[in-house]
Amino acid sequence: MSPTIRIRHATLADLPALVALERRAFTTDHLSPRQYRHHLTNPRALVLAAVDTSGLLGKAVVLFRKGSSVARLYSIAVDDAARGRGIAKALLRAVERGARTRGCTRMRLEVAQKNIGAIALYEKLGYRRFGACARFYEDGADAWRYEKILRVEKSTKSSP
Ligand SMILES: CC(C)(COP(=O)(O)OP(=O)(O)OC[C@H]1O[C@@H](n2cnc3c(N)ncnc32)[C@H](O)[C@@H]1OP(=O)(O)O)[C@@H](O)C(=O)NCCC(=O)NCCS
Repeated sequence: MSPTIRIRHATLADLPALVALERRAFTTDHLSPRQYRHHLTNPRALVLAAVDTSGLLGKAVVLFRKGSSVARLYSIAVDDAARGRGIAKALLRAVERGARTRGCTRMRLEVAQKNIGAIALYEKLGYRRFGACARFYEDGADAWRYEKILRVEKSTKSSP
């Protein structure tokens, strides 16, 4: 990923850009402005933004449950023009670090069975398929369920 791109916590100031990216990146199951506002102010959510001087390039949302060591990747997207530059990979690694910091040992996610690009991303980063959910999405598409065991990293790089 280019050194001009950085990953940081998203804030309420990012709300319009997050919602606009959401609309561009997904054809269904959009996170609403209300949901984003909730996640941005909720300690049981982690919302990270990939940015450069032009603005928001990507985002990832992870949810945590009280008493659970399983984190859930709720949403990840990179703007069309910024794809293929390692931004999703960097966002995923950053949310995994954030989950580990909160004591989580697993990350789980759902992905549309037809979303070949996202499936390739998750498998490349060590996620393993462990189940399926029929008609998971608003458009009736089926999902795979994926999980990754979050091992302690050797790197001392800090979480955003
Ligand atoms: C899926 C998505 C987040 C990938 O973002 P990205 O920044 O382009 O991904 P990266 O550049 O970090 O790719 C990392 C790896 O993922 C895999 N990958 C990503 N997109 C891929 C694609 N379209 N086809 C095949 N492999 C792909 C590759 O293995 C890639 O590694 P490589 O470049 O060394 O080959 C992006 O395409 C997107 O926002 N899609 C729309 C929203 C979406 O589907 N989100 C996931 C919902 S579950």
